[in-house]
Amino acid sequence: MNNGNFQDRVAIVTGAGRGMGEAVARRLVAEGAHVCLVDRDTAAVEAVVKDLDADKAFAVTADVSDPDAIEAFVQAAVDRWGRLDMLHNNAGVTGRSGPALESDLDDLDLVFAVNFRATFVAIKAAVPHMMGRGGAIVNMSSLFGTRAARGMGLYGASKAAVIGLTRTLAVELAPSNIRVNTVAPGAIETELLRSSNAPLLKPGGPTYDERLKTHPMARAGTPKEAANLIVWLLGDEASFVNGSIYHVDGALGA
Ligand SMILES: NC(=O)c1ccc[n+]([C@@H]2O[C@H](COP(=O)([O-])OP(=O)(O)OC[C@H]3O[C@@H](n4cnc5c(N)ncnc54)[C@H](O)[C@@H]3O)[C@@H](O)[C@H]2O)c1
Repeated sequence: MNNGNFQDRVAIVTGAGRGMGEAVARRLVAEGAHVCLVDRDTAAVEAVVKDLDADKAFAVTADVSDPDAIEAFVQAAVDRWGRLDMLHNNAGVTGRSGPALESDLDDLDLVFAVNFRATFVAIKAAVPHMMGRGGAIVNMSSLFGTRAARGMGLYGASKAAVIGLTRTLAVELAPSNIRVNTVAPGAIETELLRSSNAPLLKPGGPTYDERLKTHPMARAGTPKEAANLIVWLLGDEASFVNGSIYHVDGALGA
């Protein structure tokens, strides 16, 4: 826990309608933060917000591949609560699963627009509001951003780009006390994990559950286990943690 450090702080979490983004948003609100939850899936994000303290959370429907939509939700959060302290760039897509060279330029543009360009645009929009007080940014990479990503090559490349951006911005924003870190999960039990794995399963080969049994901890992580790390990085207990890449992968990448 962050011992109430999030009281009166304002956060934006993208992809907050389900999975890890939802878990992070719920935990931040539970610890006292005000959170703007962004997702392209209106029903999902509104359902999450309905379950939260109405003074502490609001939902925005936005597709993060649209830079204007990003500018608008950053402004909406600042207009509502007068400040911005934390940004979690979590929304992501895997794109088409399969050999990298079977992907086309539309596949490439989609994964880079959502996973990388949106991260850049959101940070650019958020940072001016963090100047003076400082802030914390956590970008979402993947184990596949740090090693070969068989069957998800463009996804892995976009997540590697997120790590590169994190490192540079951590250094450039350090004098303003704005920390920028990346979390690179292994397999976390979400819709994205199941849907991206489905096309890679071979008839007669190991099933999804059988594949997970071969992982070091013989299971996927939970969104809550990933959120524990992300929320810690967003909080003051991580005040000297900057420019780092953290795995939450049950030793899958060890
Ligand atoms: N689940 C894993 O095993 C895993 C592993 C490594 C990294 N990640 C990364 O973690 C992040 C969250 O993934 P998750 O597994 O919780 O996924 P998820 O599918 O459970 O949730 C992702 C959410 O993001 C939203 N979203 C997707 N594209 C969007 C867009 N263009 N604009 C706005 N919202 C959008 C979806 O509607 C969804 O609600 C992603 O960046 C993903 O690449 C996941």
